[in-house]
Amino acid sequence: MQIQWYPGHMTRARRMMAENLKLIDVIVELADARAPRATRNPDFDDLFEGKARALILNKCDLANPAVTAEWIQWYREHGINALTVTATESGGKKKAIALLESAAKPTVEKYRQKGINKTVRVMVTGIPNVGKSTLINKLAGTATAQTGDKPGVTRGKQWVKINSYLELMDTPGMLWPKFDDNATALHLAYIGSIKDEIIDREKLAVNLIEELRRICPAELSARYKKLDIEAEGEALLLGICKSRGFILQGGKYDTERGANAVLDDFRSGKIAKVTLERPNRETTDD
Ligand code: G4P
Repeated sequence: MQIQWYPGHMTRARRMMAENLKLIDVIVELADARAPRATRNPDFDDLFEGKARALILNKCDLANPAVTAEWIQWYREHGINALTVTATESGGKKKAIALLESAAKPTVEKYRQKGINKTVRVMVTGIPNVGKSTLINKLAGTATAQTGDKPGVTRGKQWVKINSYLELMDTPGMLWPKFDDNATALHLAYIGSIKDEIIDREKLAVNLIEELRRICPAELSARYKKLDIEAEGEALLLGICKSRGFILQGGKYDTERGANAVLDDFRSGKIAKVTLERPNRETTDD
């Protein structure tokens, strides 16, 4: 399945981002722990050149913890300041602040060593749906950031005081994913970072089932009891419908409902805690 995707408002959002960047000391980039490669854009290295950076893998509740640990190890080996979080976890303002302090620590220490005693300003960035607004709201303690991405939304910049030396920009920095290979596009679509309206959900669901049977066949079979996971193509989706009893009047399987069920189950972690990509490898299926 080929995904055609045209990122609207990209130039405008990038310009806004560049303007905001002048005010920022530390960039905290959020990525999705289920697809740590696809949810980061290789162009960010250029965009953020010269800025102190930290990477936070969010949605760890949905990812395979062993693979998350592999990623963190890999980042450490490659000199990347990387941390993990589940931004939706209950409570957690204190924890979120500790996370931000930890992300900013190398920069704060660098300033202190130089005898500079300034407020360090932080911006949370990332592609759509990685949890930027959720994390900012937790840090700010109010519904400050707008949930859901509205590229180019203009609003006054506000700074949220985190502690005596840290301030957070209350508006997340919007970035776009980049994909020149289809596997990346598919991973972004599975996790919901590309809007569903532009995608054939039934084809997407078949691709997802194929990927899941490679990564977690036992869990897939456990979730969909009568599914023959060796089946090919659309037969997989029919198997899901059979397993769930999604049958239309007249006896036809309701493949639209089947596709929605698989995508929703995957996105809410009901099939398994799945990480689609591992470090040092393009995708889990190569
Ligand atoms: P964004 O600003 O980066 O675009 O992301 P946002 O905070 O709006 O979060 C996107 C969705 O992801 C939200 O779900 C949010 O609750 C969920 N989310 C954020 N962090 C976590 C996490 O650590 N774990 C889990 N399981 N979910 C998380 P939503 O409101 O249901 O929106 P949608 O998914 O229906 O678009």
